[in-house]
Amino acid sequence: MIDAKTKVCCIIGDPVEHSLSPAMHNAAFNAAGLNFIYIAFRVANLRAAIEGVKSLGIAGISVTVPHKVEIVNYIDEIDEIAQKIGAVNTIINKKGKLLGMNTDWIGALKALSDTVDVKGKKVGLIGAGGAARAISYGLTQKRAQVYVFNRTISHANQLLSDFHLRENSSLTDLKLLRSMDVIINTTSVGMQNEYELPIPPEAITSQQVVFDIVYIPKETKLLKQAKKVGARVIYGYKMLLHQAVEQFKLFTGIDPDIDIMEKELLLHT
Ligand code: ATR
Repeated sequence: MIDAKTKVCCIIGDPVEHSLSPAMHNAAFNAAGLNFIYIAFRVANLRAAIEGVKSLGIAGISVTVPHKVEIVNYIDEIDEIAQKIGAVNTIINKKGKLLGMNTDWIGALKALSDTVDVKGKKVGLIGAGGAARAISYGLTQKRAQVYVFNRTISHANQLLSDFHLRENSSLTDLKLLRSMDVIINTTSVGMQNEYELPIPPEAITSQQVVFDIVYIPKETKLLKQAKKVGARVIYGYKMLLHQAVEQFKLFTGIDPDIDIMEKELLLHT
C-alpha cells in the first residue's frame, strides 16, 4: 500500500514514456514486500529536476538518454567507475547528498557471462559512444582484447586511448570483423527498425557470439542474421535487466527476484 512512508524512486529521461524500468522495479518491489514505488519523469530542465529530487527526498534515480553525461554537473559525488566511464545512470540519495554511479557496464558483463567468458577473447565493439564507453570499461576489467569499429574514426580513437584498447577500424573491415570471437553492437542502428544492420551481414560467422544492446525489437536484424549463420546470440534486453537488478540492489539494499523482473520485461519487448 502507498502511504506517508512510501519511498519514491524514479527514472529521468526525455523521452521516457516507453521506459520499461517502472514495470520492472515495481514488480520487484511488490514481490519483496517493500514500501517503495518507481515512476517515470520526462525531464527537460535537468538542473531544476535535481533540485526537486533533493527537496522531495527521492530515494533513488535511474538516469537515461539524453541526461547520462550532463547529470555529472549537478550531483554531489560520482564514484570512480562512473567518472572513468564519463556517464552516470544511477543516483542514490544519501541523506540529501546525491551519489552517482554506473550499472550499465555490469549489466553488459552479466548479459555476456551467461553465454561466453570474454577473458582473452577478441571482442569487436560496434560504436564508440556512451554505451561503448561503459562496455569498454567492463571488458577491460575482464581482460578481453577489445577492437572498435565505428563510423567516425576520431570518436573511436578517443575510446582507444581512454581505455587502452587494441585497435580501431571501419564498419566495413570484413577481414578484421570476421576474426572477432564476440561482436557487440552498441549503436542504435536497428532500434525500432527491423531492416537496419550496423555492419555488413558477411561480417558474421558461425563461430561468433553476437550481442546487440538494442532491445526493441527483441530480435534485431543483426541477431536474425547471426542466428541464420549459426552464431550464438545475446539479446539486448538482458543488459537492461541486469543493469536494473544492480540498481535495485543500490536503491533497496536487497537482491530482487530477477525472474519476476525478466518476466515483466518480456511482457513488453
Ligand atoms: P549512446 O550514448 O547511446 O552510446 P551516442 O553517444 O550518441 O549514444 O553514440 C552513438 C554511437 O552510435 C556512435 O558511435 C555513433 O557513431 P559516430 O561516432 O560515427 O557518431 C554510432 N551511430 C549512431 N547512428 C549510426 C549510424 N546510422 N550508422 C553508424 N553508426 C551510428
